[in-house]
Amino acid sequence: MDIQAILEEIEKEVRPLLGEGKVADYIPALANVDPKQFGMAVTLLDGTQYGVGESGKRFSIQSISKVFTFTLALHAYGPELYKRVGREPSGSPFNSLVQLEYEHGIPRNPFINAGAIVVTDSLITHFGDDYTALETIMGFIRDISDEPSVTIDPEVARSEMEHGYRNLALAHLMKSFDNIDNEVRTVVQTYFKHCAVTMSASELSRAVLYLANGGTDPITQHTFITPQQSKRINAVMLTCGHYDASGDFAFHVGLPGKSGVGGGIVAVVPGKMGICVWSPALNEQGNSLAGTRALELFTTKTGFSIF
Ligand code: DON
Repeated sequence: MDIQAILEEIEKEVRPLLGEGKVADYIPALANVDPKQFGMAVTLLDGTQYGVGESGKRFSIQSISKVFTFTLALHAYGPELYKRVGREPSGSPFNSLVQLEYEHGIPRNPFINAGAIVVTDSLITHFGDDYTALETIMGFIRDISDEPSVTIDPEVARSEMEHGYRNLALAHLMKSFDNIDNEVRTVVQTYFKHCAVTMSASELSRAVLYLANGGTDPITQHTFITPQQSKRINAVMLTCGHYDASGDFAFHVGLPGKSGVGGGIVAVVPGKMGICVWSPALNEQGNSLAGTRALELFTTKTGFSIF
């Protein structure tokens, strides 16, 4: 199958959509990104890469980082982690507060903001302090992408902290239920920093290969997590990776995937490849509009879906 030709076809087909949707503007540092950009990349288990458009341009990975922090926390705590964060779809927007009150400060899953904040808190506790936790997260991201130059955009992290009222509210609410160990500001600040990592579609498609290969990087042979944990992470990506649009994403694309408000989406084809698409304009649920369509076209044209 000529994957490069398929990506080129997809790029042509989604071009007309590039004016639609809206860039995330609740984070001022992201509001200025040109909405009409598009990039898509595929990395096979043997490292072969394909890419179109701006697949080499770094963007803010935002909630895609939640896959990496969830991986580290699952590795650190095993099933104990689920005492503090669930694994059910929320059916709610990514930053919703209401469910958290009804459910006594236990977030539905590690991919909504509240869940990711608990996961970050658990990493700070496990690694002893926020600095070491963040260094460990960055080290992990550099390992799985095999790209030592990956860094945080401090301007995006600062901008989020300045307007972080809702995330701070989520964290305070959870603290009141005793589900945050560390100081609220420290936890939320660390969460914003890992959301502010910048990577390209090509780097991200490489980075998720461990999830396409049962927890072991197929190129370096480094084992990060067990096959069972990898299966679980993929399952949670499939059911919760797109918030209240997760069912829709499974319906149209049929792959485990995780989106971010920077406009990126990663997807995993188990046993075959990692995929990442980036286009900053978002649909109403906060997921890349052209990106979702591009992934739907990809699974339709290639037949590479889990269903
Ligand atoms: O906390 C936030 O709102 C952002 N740092 C991340 C949200 C996000 O990416 C949701 N994704 N679609």
